[in-house]
Amino acid sequence: MLVRYPTFDLSTSSPQWGDNAEAVVIINAGGIIPAAIERFLIRVMRQAKKLLDPVADAELIADIETFNKQEGQHLKLHNEYLLWLRDNGYPRIFEFEATFEADLQEFLATKPLDWNLAYSEGFESTGCAMAEAWIDGGIAEVCGDHGSAPMRLWMWHLAEEFEHRAVVHRVLERLYGPDRAFELRKAGAEFNRPHSHGHAEQAAAYMHEVNRAGMTPAEVEASVEREHAAQVDMARVYGDTLEWVFQPGYDPAQVEPPRDYEAILAMYTPAS
Ligand SMILES: [Fe+2]
Ligand SMILES: [Fe+2]
Repeated sequence: MLVRYPTFDLSTSSPQWGDNAEAVVIINAGGIIPAAIERFLIRVMRQAKKLLDPVADAELIADIETFNKQEGQHLKLHNEYLLWLRDNGYPRIFEFEATFEADLQEFLATKPLDWNLAYSEGFESTGCAMAEAWIDGGIAEVCGDHGSAPMRLWMWHLAEEFEHRAVVHRVLERLYGPDRAFELRKAGAEFNRPHSHGHAEQAAAYMHEVNRAGMTPAEVEASVEREHAAQVDMARVYGDTLEWVFQPGYDPAQVEPPRDYEAILAMYTPAS
């Protein structure tokens, strides 16, 4: 695991960066999730780190530190992504992130650490499950992308999500043992996914509304049909990967790396 510091010049792209406008909205709207949840993850992992043994758990502690630095870079660039959306046609985008973030703040203030770690693993297991669809180009294809900066940012992010996919899982196993960790990760994924997805859907509804302003009723109808088709296409690309976390023997470390995983990371790894 390595911290990388890529930059993506979003100013060269339009927020309509792919041929499939409705699919692009789904991805752009999903952009309200990473920065907020990664700020949350960093805080939760700092709390977990305090419960570990500095000697016996030295390796896991070092991985948590790298994990937090990677998430710190992800959230920095995803914040730039939101600023770019705000300044290029979607002035209300931060309202949707703020509503999501308020929930996360409430979890930090009111939920126990095991619950917050389970919620974290819900997100991390989703990144691991979705990695192949992003890294190997399935999502880019649904969007009709042609190598845009926003899609390259997402692909780098998903490659690093794959790289650090086992860290939260290992923390759960270490702190609570395999049986309780299994219950926690199932409950965490069951709660995290509809929760974060629901917030992204609110953002998507707003962005579709912006894009559809000025369309005729027939055009709106066709756009809604394309939106539903894009959802179906994305679900097809993800396949059954989202079920992995619910298997008793799930171990993210054992998941086969996507075909282009090493190549994408290498693009952003400084030569030593
Ligand atoms: Fe991340
Ligand atoms: Fe992550």
